[in-house]
Amino acid sequence: MTRVCLQRRSSGRIYTLEFRSQQRMTRRTSGLRRSNFAIPCDFAEGPREHFAIGKKTMKVLVTGAAGFIGSTLVLRLLARGDTVIGIDNHNGYYDPAIKEARLARFATHPHYSHLRIDIADRKAIEAAFASHKPHCVVNLAAQAGVRYSIENPLAYIDSNIVGFAHILEGCRHSGVKHLVYASSSSVYGANTAMPFSIHQNVDHPLSLYAASKKANELMAHTYSHLYGLPTTGLRFFTVYGPWGRPDMALFKFTKAILAGEAIQVFNHGRHRRDFTYVDDIVEGVIRVLDRPALPNPDWNGNSPDPGTSLAPWRVYNIGNNRPVELMDYIAALEGALNRTAVKEFLPLQAGDVPDTYAAVDDLVEQFDYKPATTVQEGIKLFVAWYCDYFRA
Ligand SMILES: NC(=O)c1ccc[n+]([C@@H]2O[C@H](COP(=O)([O-])OP(=O)(O)OC[C@H]3O[C@@H](n4cnc5c(N)ncnc54)[C@H](O)[C@@H]3O)[C@@H](O)[C@H]2O)c1
Repeated sequence: MTRVCLQRRSSGRIYTLEFRSQQRMTRRTSGLRRSNFAIPCDFAEGPREHFAIGKKTMKVLVTGAAGFIGSTLVLRLLARGDTVIGIDNHNGYYDPAIKEARLARFATHPHYSHLRIDIADRKAIEAAFASHKPHCVVNLAAQAGVRYSIENPLAYIDSNIVGFAHILEGCRHSGVKHLVYASSSSVYGANTAMPFSIHQNVDHPLSLYAASKKANELMAHTYSHLYGLPTTGLRFFTVYGPWGRPDMALFKFTKAILAGEAIQVFNHGRHRRDFTYVDDIVEGVIRVLDRPALPNPDWNGNSPDPGTSLAPWRVYNIGNNRPVELMDYIAALEGALNRTAVKEFLPLQAGDVPDTYAAVDDLVEQFDYKPATTVQEGIKLFVAWYCDYFRA
């Protein structure tokens, strides 16, 4: 029988509380303050060692390690002494040369191993988990981009659904203590109540990309419930910064402005976005990674909170909490480049959402998360990197 346990902090010591079932645990702990809990774990194969919570070095598997956010995360994990196994298939969705250049920054680090494999390749992923036995996993590998999902939906099924299932299976079979995975602000789809909150229902995606990210949250929930795997989904809100993605607006705008070409401004510039600087995102990922998801003892099936669960499953928005008008974003870029953009105003694109603005209260309260970089500072850092990288 799989028992569940919570470790509880009291008077500076950690006690292990063991329960016969998730339901029993929830009933017995409902009066206790959440901050007193350390970590949930299961006893299917005997007690797991105490999870280090950032104090001891960890072995972290990062998928999408040659990607924009993944490579920035790997550098931070290596810098704090963790051992990292990176997975990436280096696909050609955008120029793979930039993926190689990102990887070159840490490929030879003594605590880094790189696997050029596809997460949709079941055997390769099984072998990776079996040989490396990571303590925790950050799944960032995915087919990204809303617009491309209209053109090539099956790429999203392969990487985001089939690939994600392989990651969940790998975590289950190798006793991973925490899976953190990238979700997206696009799960809010047709919702219009701002700011977007994790406690809102998100059942109306507007693209297969969004549906695949929402599906990841649902798939993760079943693994948290059935196998006690702590999982945390992070809904990223438009991430930008050095080593960014060539298919994203900031990259395209910079390239066009420097070439004296017009930039395409969709929805006639009436977008508001929570632009989040990549270092602020990575800081959030690391804070969350170090504290495995906990059940919410107050969760009630009669009025189910979409953002928490009786299982060790959580989702969080991770954004700047300071929405910026697209035209102000462009003005900041013009300032950093010291050029004026020629603008071609166009209607809203299919699958796109006009505004994304995150409520990040849960992340602030539980992880003391404070994204600090303003759009003006972040864009300057991006432009400095861009000009250096392309010798522009
Ligand atoms: N950048 C953003 O603004 C943003 C916003 C919301 C969500 N996200 C999500 O965050 C994650 C990282 O995004 P990013 O901006 O760094 O994207 P990215 O495309 O730069 O990184 C993803 C990496 O994963 C790799 N990859 C893709 N499919 C793979 C597969 N099947 N097997 C192995 N590797 C594969 C790619 O080669 C790429 O290097 C993605 O899941 C994305 O959907 C990003």
